[in-house]
Amino acid sequence: MLSAIVIILGYVFGNFPTGLIVGKLNNIDIRQSGSGNIGSTNALRTLGFLKGGLPTLVGDILKVVIPCLLVKHLICPGLAGNEIGYLSTNYFVLLCGFGVVLGHNFPAVLGFHGGKGIASTGGAFLVFNFPMTMIPLAVFIIVCYITKYVSLGSMIGLISIPVTIAFFYPGQWALVLVASFYAILGIARHKPNIERLMKGTENKLGQKKK
Ligand code: G3P
Repeated sequence: MLSAIVIILGYVFGNFPTGLIVGKLNNIDIRQSGSGNIGSTNALRTLGFLKGGLPTLVGDILKVVIPCLLVKHLICPGLAGNEIGYLSTNYFVLLCGFGVVLGHNFPAVLGFHGGKGIASTGGAFLVFNFPMTMIPLAVFIIVCYITKYVSLGSMIGLISIPVTIAFFYPGQWALVLVASFYAILGIARHKPNIERLMKGTENKLGQKKK
């Protein structure tokens, strides 16, 4: 029951279409520009850093940090859960964040056509364990820096999350399992990017859209 409540709470917050609103404030429909994605990478590509990328990133992180902090400190504080991490506070934080990713990727307010949930995923893990999240973040930044492909950085960063949790939370397989849901969904949402990567037509950072 509590699991359903935190997922629904997350889903409601995840529906907030930051990128679309940022685009509208700049008189464009971000879904018709660049990759067509409503996330901060496409907002950056379409509107630049200050007008598009930064406000979209901040909004998409806030919309996950707020409900996850509510879960951590007000709704489910201090729960130890069992030995695999099931029903612990950490477990509920991750479930709530996954609800936000579902809301961002499949928003009812946009006819269930949403984004890829990378910023939302990052924000959820920042609340889960801020220092630990620096590892997947570093993986993301290094891959993006070397390849100039944000999508590739996102996917490899996603894979590194359950691996990092398995290392820092040994035996807490419930946490690893929920983290794996983020990775599987996030990678599945990158299907068009994977196709473009294979064809050599994926957008690179600092390059105009193809
Ligand atoms: O954050 C999403 C990123 O990995 C890819 O975005 O716009 O290039 O499809 P985009």
